Amino acid sequence: MTAPLPDATPTGASPTVVPIDLGDRSYDILIGAGLLDQSSTWAGLPRARTALIVTNDLVAPLYLERLTRQLSTHYANVESVVLPDGEQHKSWESLDRVIDHLLAGAADRKTVLYALGGGVIGDLTGFAAAIYMRGVPFVQVPTTLLAQVDSSVGGKTAINHPRGKNMVGAFYQPMRVVADLDTLDTLPDRELSAGLAEIIKYGPIADVAFLDWIEAHLDALLARDKSALAYAVKRSCEIKAWVVGQDERESGLRAILNFGHTFGHAIETGLGYGAWLHGEGVGCGMVLASELSARLGLVPAGFVDRMTRLLERARLPVKAPRMPIERWLELMRVDKKNEGGEIRFVVIEGLGRAGMRGAPDAMVAEVIAAHTERQP
Ligand code: NAD
Ligand code: GLY
Repeated sequence: MTAPLPDATPTGASPTVVPIDLGDRSYDILIGAGLLDQSSTWAGLPRARTALIVTNDLVAPLYLERLTRQLSTHYANVESVVLPDGEQHKSWESLDRVIDHLLAGAADRKTVLYALGGGVIGDLTGFAAAIYMRGVPFVQVPTTLLAQVDSSVGGKTAINHPRGKNMVGAFYQPMRVVADLDTLDTLPDRELSAGLAEIIKYGPIADVAFLDWIEAHLDALLARDKSALAYAVKRSCEIKAWVVGQDERESGLRAILNFGHTFGHAIETGLGYGAWLHGEGVGCGMVLASELSARLGLVPAGFVDRMTRLLERARLPVKAPRMPIERWLELMRVDKKNEGGEIRFVVIEGLGRAGMRGAPDAMVAEVIAAHTERQP
């Protein structure tokens, strides 16, 4: 049975701490401004001789030196691997570079990995930590809004396969998540919007009051108001903690976090990784999943308009790209949620409550057609 979602807690002194309660795999999410440069942020983590920071060539010039300086007071040896930026590099090749660096250098089974970057770096580094010597500790240092509200939390780690998103990976929890809100200052607007998609997701699946709050504070979020961002990151993490605490390995409830993702992953894979951002695919995917929920008679048609308006205001695409329906279905058949060959969609079963349903191909085709870009 699903436990009731705890009420939102007030955003108090920095850092705000959101605990993830998973028995001996429990850890804290620290949320606040200026965390990167505070020595207390890094205290109490596992001791080791070597720390390896994994980052990319866009984030490294911004934050690598500062993190290296902090970690140098805790580890004799702080190394880094700088990967090329981009979703297309969440790949076997990048993973191999990290593993090769670990094997070639001074790393041992106590070495701590630090993921400095967005969800691509976080997912890949977590997977490297899960498989190197059968598992070494790792810390998430998410620097995108999307990674702070979603991907750094909950222990899903993966790389992509050309046939499907996140198809090779492991459940592996970090030791800590450090979400420094100041790192969002350098985030491009398009990436901020991509993060807003995952924040918006939490409202319809779990917390109507949060959906109302997002609608009321969207302009402040777009303007990067720090207190609005602090609340949005904290409430998103609280909701994710509530879900993951009950279903770490997605045997049921956790699938609701994939609202919009079945359609969104198909867009990402179909257009080639990197063409649409993950959050853009999720944004548009939520319009399609809302439409499907309405056609299945679960929510009124007005809900589709409400979601579409909010996503448009968040500067996210609400029209799907043109792809033959056979291609959509082929792509959506490669999805971890599917069972017995049937595509399973996360649908809204009533505001603040989500579930899983199959749907006839013809209905799915109508849903997509109703929200596809017209021919130019
Ligand atoms: P990303 O990691 O590609 O980051 C987006 C862009 O922002 C990149 O160009 C990155 O280099 C840049 N960037 C990062 N931090 C920056 C900063 N502070 N300033 C300026 N630029 C910065 O993408 P993302 O949106 O963070 O994450 C998407 C990925 O996360 C996808 O691969 C998705 O599958 C995955 N994901 C995983 C989970 C999970 O539970 N593990 C959940 C959601 C998404
Ligand atoms: N973002 C989906 C999950 O963490 O389960």
